[in-house]
Amino acid sequence: MRTLADFDKDFEAKYTLDENFSNVLVRVDYNVPIKDGRVTDDTRIKASLPTIKHLLGKNLAVILMSHLGRPKGKDPAFSLQPVVKVLQDYLHKEVKFIKGPPPRPSASGYLDVLNQAGGLLPGSVALLENVRFNDGEEANDDDLAQGYARLGDAFVLDAFGSAHRAHASVTGITKHLPSYAGRLMEKEVSALSKLIDTPSKPYWMVLGGAKVSDKIGLINKLLPKVDGIVIGGAMAFTFIKARGGQVGNSLVEDDKLDLARWLIQIASAIGVKLQLPTDVVAAKKIEKGVETTVFPANRIPEGWMGLDIGPDSQKDFAKALQGAHTVFWNGPMGVFETPPFDAGTLVVGKAIAELSGAFTVVGGGDSVAAANKLGVSEKFSHVSTGGGASLEFLESGTLPGIEALS
Ligand code: 3PG
Repeated sequence: MRTLADFDKDFEAKYTLDENFSNVLVRVDYNVPIKDGRVTDDTRIKASLPTIKHLLGKNLAVILMSHLGRPKGKDPAFSLQPVVKVLQDYLHKEVKFIKGPPPRPSASGYLDVLNQAGGLLPGSVALLENVRFNDGEEANDDDLAQGYARLGDAFVLDAFGSAHRAHASVTGITKHLPSYAGRLMEKEVSALSKLIDTPSKPYWMVLGGAKVSDKIGLINKLLPKVDGIVIGGAMAFTFIKARGGQVGNSLVEDDKLDLARWLIQIASAIGVKLQLPTDVVAAKKIEKGVETTVFPANRIPEGWMGLDIGPDSQKDFAKALQGAHTVFWNGPMGVFETPPFDAGTLVVGKAIAELSGAFTVVGGGDSVAAANKLGVSEKFSHVSTGGGASLEFLESGTLPGIEALS
């Protein structure tokens, strides 16, 4: 993967001699939560600053591009405009918002975008509108990729969270510009590689979230390397039912019961501990402040749904992790966004953060939000900005975005 160190060498060797070299396009991942026109979690924006500052330090103009959400067409609710203010506050400079039309050479009005990009002064910053407003972005349309490429002289991919997408602004563009990985890409790849190549033992995975199917690739890949797996979230109910438990109305993937049985058998055969919840906090509906009862995890009555791990499980999970030297955590232990079902996630997050001397990595929206809410993100060795991307990297050891830079 070519990095900013390579960019710097090329910059000294050739770009500084090229008077016309001035704009660097940077693909970032600003797919951030926005409520009432305000960014409510700016972790991903902060994570992009080292690369932006590095390029500004060379007096280059930086053109940022990102997607936001999964819009159908140009839905203004998915505009990146709210990000501008956050960036301006961090960079202490004006950020020009280039709204469009789509940066595709054949689109009418493309010249306007080209002129706006061309007119940027050295040391200035611009942000393009949501790349998913452009037809062909997700289909990796080459005409669109060329349109992006003409806005700059070099390309830096720093959108680790999107590097598993072979889209025009992630991989397509690399065919048309000298391309490099940004600081965040380097940091993520180095931290996550340790989980695959050189994990210090005992090594535990803490998995949560709704579906076993989302984590199956990861479990398959890491099962032979770990000493134990803590399983919380709704995905635990598929395992509990597979073992013959009664899970009431809890979320279960019935078509994954055989898979869960098979994983239980393999784990036992190779001596990997599977730590499942023994009790759960249940309710009849998912609602803030609703009446709750604690049931044994394998005896949840009909009409009740397990929505968080119970107090015994909180203690068991924290105890299982004591003494771990490496921990990877992905996915909440309960319905984190609806209190009181956030309690289990907070307790487990704190237990991981407080492991002394361990290499701890957290990835995925809700788990990172839990670490932020507890104010313990700094205690993790690495907080990944990638949800799907970090899982896919751990499964395959690479990503389409990384391959495109190699
Ligand atoms: C994410 O939040 O996981 C990334 O930004 C990718 O978003 P996507 O799943 O919509 O491609």
